[in-house]
Amino acid sequence: MKIVATKDELESLLGPQRAKGNSIGFVPTMGALHKGHISLVNLSIAENDITVCSIFVNPTQFNDPADLKRYPRPVDSDRQMLENAGCDILFIPSIEEMYLDNDYTLLNEDFGILDKVMEGQSRPGHFAGMITIVNKLFNAVKPHKAYFGNKDFQQLTIVKYFVKKHNLPLTIRECPISRDDDGLAMSSRNRLLSPEERKAATLIPNTLFSVKKTWGTAKISDLKKFVLDEFAKEPILKLDYFEVVNFDTLISVTEPILPEMPIIACIATFAGKIRLIDNIRLQ
Ligand code: PAJ
Repeated sequence: MKIVATKDELESLLGPQRAKGNSIGFVPTMGALHKGHISLVNLSIAENDITVCSIFVNPTQFNDPADLKRYPRPVDSDRQMLENAGCDILFIPSIEEMYLDNDYTLLNEDFGILDKVMEGQSRPGHFAGMITIVNKLFNAVKPHKAYFGNKDFQQLTIVKYFVKKHNLPLTIRECPISRDDDGLAMSSRNRLLSPEERKAATLIPNTLFSVKKTWGTAKISDLKKFVLDEFAKEPILKLDYFEVVNFDTLISVTEPILPEMPIIACIATFAGKIRLIDNIRLQ
């Protein structure tokens, strides 16, 4: 695996590949890699001639400076995991490389409600920072396909919208959520949880699985009450939101539920200071 820190070095590796007609798959990450990230890398390797992974803890998408400060950065084990997976190129730029001359100007995109509900409401500015860096990374890598996890469902929706709106010449590949054996969605932030918090956090997937089981028989208002009650019983976790939304538009779903409507349930909770998100497709 080649490791590069600048866009010029990256292009010196990728330019000849592109000229040969080889396809480039790209997996953007913020590091602290786990099997969920690696599942994206594996898919890219299976579908492309060259796979590029980036690790960049993007300061502009952290609305809470403490969250940015505590974000794990285990660079050596990340490098090893990517090497083992068979990734071809690791792009690991400095902040100056991505925000030239300390210019942190963000893209001013109109996403309608897509960046205003759920995560948008709880993390103001997060998606503007996210799309700014994703756009910079797309410009640097110029991939044929880019891989995003359904774990960050709203992020994926916004990236898909951005690519469509600007006719960017790449395909977004949506990847399933990887979970630990007890159901908890894998996340870089999980390693910041205490053993008690980690145990309590299984309530998140368990609640989503229960919601899915009763979907079709229970009313949405009953489901919401059920989730609120479940979290009220667990003092270690604080529910931020539980929403049942249209998969494409993110508009809150109300009764009557049409069978052809794509619907997803999304949840965000705090375990102490650590924010955890998860979701499940309902229909
Ligand atoms: P990060 O949180 O490191 O996630 C990188 C990619 O891995 C995202 O597409 C995310 O959805 C996916 N991912 C994380 N956990 C996953 C899991 N359990 N199963 C499947 N996929 C999972 O998302 C970001 O970084 C950043 O916002 C980024 C897009 C890199 C821009 O800075």
